Amino acid sequence: MPISRLQYLQAMDIVAWRARAGRGANAPIAPAPEIDVPVFARADAGWEALQARVRVCNACRLHAGRTQTVFGVGDPHAQWMVIGEGPGADEDQQGEPFVGKAGQLLNAMLAAIGLARGKVYIANIVKCRPPQNREPASDEVAACMGYLHAQIDLVQPRIILCVGKVAASNLLGRDEPIGRMRGTVHQFKKIPTVVTYHPAYLLRSPLEKRKAWEDLKLARRVVQQGL
Ligand code: URA
Repeated sequence: MPISRLQYLQAMDIVAWRARAGRGANAPIAPAPEIDVPVFARADAGWEALQARVRVCNACRLHAGRTQTVFGVGDPHAQWMVIGEGPGADEDQQGEPFVGKAGQLLNAMLAAIGLARGKVYIANIVKCRPPQNREPASDEVAACMGYLHAQIDLVQPRIILCVGKVAASNLLGRDEPIGRMRGTVHQFKKIPTVVTYHPAYLLRSPLEKRKAWEDLKLARRVVQQGL
């Protein structure tokens, strides 16, 4: 039996909601951090060259522990781009981001705002699994970030949704608690960017799902209103 939108909303612990106007959409914009991107990792190399390069990447220590790289998945012309932290055990095995329990909740979050997983593009800050699911270290992020920049340049999404502090801090260059980064519209290379909680955190702290739902609606408003 197909899963209904109501079931997705229930997975988000959403019983009823009403749209609220204008929240934070005109908030001040933080400049995106500039990074030097080697030519092989630039968008002008194209998707195939980029993916081939990631597949053999050994630019940081994470390559030693991976089963395979986890490049990214979805519509290469998506309006929405979701950025997570890095692959976990399931993703490392399957070579696709967000396929474990957190991924199931991410799918439900997307479905709750009417988006099929295949309609968005999903990628991570780092493309190889950090051991024991620790956060990626700053040198690992620095070694990998060019790939994500190139992916964003290729997709040219209308909205970026950063899930979790690691994604938000590294993309936006802000070392702030997630509670201060969410609820407003940032910009990354002139692309509106909204921050929300990581689905793995929401699985542990379901009471925060309501705030994540507000964030999703904010992102949807940005796309619908072309803010
Ligand atoms: N968590 C992430 O941040 N990314 C994944 O791909 C899976 C879990």
